[in-house]
Amino acid sequence: MPARPATPAAPGNAAAPMPLAVYVHVPWCVRKCPYCDFNSHHLRGVLPADAYVDALLADLDQDLTEQPPGTNSAAVSSIFIGGGTPSLLPAAAIERLLAGVAARLPVTPDLEITLEANPGTVERHAFAAFRAAGVNRLSLGIQSFDDTRLHLLGRVHDGAQALSAAEEAVAHFDRVNLDIMFALPGQSLDACLRDLQRALQFAPGHLSHYELTLEPGTVFARYPPDALPDHDLASDMRDASEALLANAGYHAYETSAYAASTAARARHNLNYWTFGDYIGIGAGAHGKRSRGGCVRRTAKLRSPQAYLGAAGTPGRIAMDTVVSGGELTGEFMLNALRLTDGFQESLLTHRLGPDAAQQARPALAEAVRDGFLDRVQGGWRPTALGRRFLNDLQGRFLP
Ligand SMILES: C[S@@+](CC[C@H](N)C(=O)[O-])C[C@H]1O[C@@H](n2cnc3c(N)ncnc32)[C@H](O)[C@@H]1O
Ligand code: SF4
Repeated sequence: MPARPATPAAPGNAAAPMPLAVYVHVPWCVRKCPYCDFNSHHLRGVLPADAYVDALLADLDQDLTEQPPGTNSAAVSSIFIGGGTPSLLPAAAIERLLAGVAARLPVTPDLEITLEANPGTVERHAFAAFRAAGVNRLSLGIQSFDDTRLHLLGRVHDGAQALSAAEEAVAHFDRVNLDIMFALPGQSLDACLRDLQRALQFAPGHLSHYELTLEPGTVFARYPPDALPDHDLASDMRDASEALLANAGYHAYETSAYAASTAARARHNLNYWTFGDYIGIGAGAHGKRSRGGCVRRTAKLRSPQAYLGAAGTPGRIAMDTVVSGGELTGEFMLNALRLTDGFQESLLTHRLGPDAAQQARPALAEAVRDGFLDRVQGGWRPTALGRRFLNDLQGRFLP
């Protein structure tokens, strides 16, 4: 174990190690959806699964070689294989990837391993094979069960495929998340709720409910679709959805995330929202590592071809920056204020160091005074107003 630097409570060096997760990005999709700004590329030809897994493991080796001495991380508690469309990978490739990660890093006994899957890209037997490969949580990109909405979103699947994929998912996995979008072109409040009611028929442990956003650089940003719900309707949809899901026993523990129980919460995402560290491997993957009072953020090359060519070398890194001080407090707040229960002062101190709470106190007090935050036992919690105007609340902490 390397010696610890003198600043005992600096990020990553406090007595308790920094939680650590691994994110794996798979950058290919059957085709690109017009609203999507994730690093996903239209797959032409055959996915180079073996070469990509080799590149991912070489990338991880290089990340660990570059990790500075004194980095104080806990065992990995979650692996998230996201995309893009990771379910395009054969199960054997996923099994080799997972074995490779576990051979390089200590992992917790209850390691959460999530795979994102798209309806319409998986054969009937595939979910069983993913489960056998070690995946223990499936996140399914349903978006809607309505054929018209799916068509307008440019999805490769229809409502019938969404239903059968959800059925397969819950048949093979104890832990399932369904991604559903709302405020879709031409969508009524009733249609939004109908999508959720259909999702509830499968009793998934977790639901993610995202409002469609027009992301810069996407086809939808350039050519906005007709009949997009206005702000008031979108807001009504959010409120009615939360009420419907609460009635069905799902708690909105984060601004877009609902869980049927505490155990069903997404551990990987909770690590982001509680400002833990993560290693990001794969084309365009982001990483965050804390050390000595600051955070190093990295991003890998976005182009799959360029990444494959450079994966085991220092050249795989496209962005490398160090964040500290007020900027880091802003990043913490962007994440932690998304949580319905807010955060404890002890978390802020552990993640950012002993001075962080002192520095944030004036802005926190002002947010309490303005009705955006409640002071609760040992921490702060967004009020209903703070949750509704989350961007305004978060903005108060940005330098
Ligand atoms: C990066 S996607 C990956 C999952 C998978 N490829 C899929 O699309 O089904 C993760 C989720 O982000 C959500 N998402 C992507 N773009 C969005 C946008 N512009 N607005 C709202 N949600 C979006 C979708 O619900 C999607 O399932
Ligand atoms: S399938 Fe998912 S990742 Fe791929 S383009 Fe569509 S939204 Fe983006």
